[in-house]
Amino acid sequence: MYSLLLFVILADFLREVCAISDVDIVPRDAWGARPPYMIEAMANPVPYVVIHHSYIPPACNTTEDCMQAMRSMQDYHQLNHSWNDIGYSFAVGGDGRAYMGRGWDRVGAHAPKFNDKSIGICIIGDWSADLPPERQLKVTQDLIEMGVRDGAIQKDYILLGHKQTKKKGATECPGDRLFEEIQTWPNWQNEALPDGKKETFD
Ligand SMILES: *[C@@H]1O[C@H](CO)[C@@H](O)[C@H](O)[C@H]1NC(C)=O
Ligand SMILES: *[C@@H]1O[C@H](CO)[C@@H](O)[C@H](O)[C@H]1NC(C)=O
Ligand SMILES: [Zn+2]
Repeated sequence: MYSLLLFVILADFLREVCAISDVDIVPRDAWGARPPYMIEAMANPVPYVVIHHSYIPPACNTTEDCMQAMRSMQDYHQLNHSWNDIGYSFAVGGDGRAYMGRGWDRVGAHAPKFNDKSIGICIIGDWSADLPPERQLKVTQDLIEMGVRDGAIQKDYILLGHKQTKKKGATECPGDRLFEEIQTWPNWQNEALPDGKKETFD
């Protein structure tokens, strides 16, 4: 009797630990996205995940502010840069929610040479000196795991910070503090391979 109870508790515990929590992705119409000007399909699963910070807009802590941040990024990318859409595949807010940008299977505009083979995730805020709140980091990691589980991201994907996709010094994105943090995450690699060239970062 007790052993059965123990078994049930243990099984429950294991299910909790092993399960990838499904990330509730805020759809585009919920945050008031404008339609894309054009859509380019991207083949899945992709080999790279590229992490960004927004720098501007600053960190958002409420869903209302995060939705506003999404609209302002889309405005800037579409209206000021004439890009097809908000550049990122997804963004994650300080409200602990993931926001749909271009999604899993559309070419992005966030890291030239990697746009057609990566998922670009923007962690909204300026993370040069500060670390994003724990829940914002957790949702970002859950989103990546979900992408792997659902076949959008290769199992042996390479995780990069935006600056690793460019010449040294060309951008400080995703911010020094966040860049330090993602170096502790699974699949981060100390090299980027634009044009097959290897360069190390530290
Ligand atoms: C969000 O919370 C952070 C940390 O508490 C704070 O520094 C920041 O000013 C807040 N941002 C807004 C827009 O309220
Ligand atoms: C984007 O374009 C608008 C409208 O032309 C302009 O007012 C705004 O200053 C631009 N934003 C940036 C950051 O350049
Ligand atoms: Zn970036």
